[in-house]
Amino acid sequence: MKPAIIVHGGAWKIAEDTHADHIAGTRAAVAAGWALLKQGETALDAVEAAVSAMEDDPTFDAGIGSVLNRVGEIEMDAIIMDGETLALGAVAAVRGIINPVRLARLIVRDTDHSLLVAEGARRFAELKGMRLCAEAELTVPREVERFRALQQKKDYHLSEGFTPDPMDTVGAVAIDANGNVAAATSTGGVHYKLPGRVGDSPLVGAGAYADNLTGAASATGHGESIMRVVLSKTTTDALGQGMSAQEAADYAIKYMYDRVSGYGGIIVVDSQGEIAFAYNTPHMAVAWVDSSGEIQARIKG
Ligand code: GLY
Repeated sequence: MKPAIIVHGGAWKIAEDTHADHIAGTRAAVAAGWALLKQGETALDAVEAAVSAMEDDPTFDAGIGSVLNRVGEIEMDAIIMDGETLALGAVAAVRGIINPVRLARLIVRDTDHSLLVAEGARRFAELKGMRLCAEAELTVPREVERFRALQQKKDYHLSEGFTPDPMDTVGAVAIDANGNVAAATSTGGVHYKLPGRVGDSPLVGAGAYADNLTGAASATGHGESIMRVVLSKTTTDALGQGMSAQEAADYAIKYMYDRVSGYGGIIVVDSQGEIAFAYNTPHMAVAWVDSSGEIQARIKG
């Protein structure tokens, strides 16, 4: 099997002056994952490396650069899933670590659980020797400014659905030389969310799904819409019904809009290594390796 990988760096109205950063960040993420796949490493390792690279990059709403919640704190969600075994690890509302996706991977590797939340997730990180960090290390001036502006906007409602504001959730899907697929997604969630709010990203089938029998998908966009239509599983189920990767991605995004007027994007790899993406937001940041082995990174819109 020829390996393949595609990543996303969010779907929203990506401001023009940040296009170059999004392109560079998604390109570096694909490069990190592709380097492993070329050496014969697993799809699971590749998606972890790709997502962790974007968590390290302050451009994105994941890890460093995550948005602030309504009380000025950062709570992050992430998931990773192995399509060979259907094993998954996820963390929700976790604070004070840089790479939630790596913590999710440790849950797969070292526990018989699937999802750890909040303080329990953080304690598990500490137990496994992950470096805990101060909130200041995750916080970027862009998000402090946004938080202060939102504090002034008294009529702001989380239920407003899609706005042209950031949805810089990151994700990756890959297939390795053995034909195993994997998916990973990580996010700081939506800006000015209530403390304790968990989005779609760590929810299996919503934020990501991977099954060797069909393929793997990772979602970005408005979490409350994505979870209602279980967007990633809807996409891989469409593969199982015989759709191509592109048809499945298009179908799932249209289904989300038709059923719940939701906005977002999806990346997908099928069990034959075909990759695709679809979105209904003004832009989506994506990068992938093309059939000649070259990395392509784009702001689609
Ligand atoms: N899609 C990310 C979130 O809504 O939290």
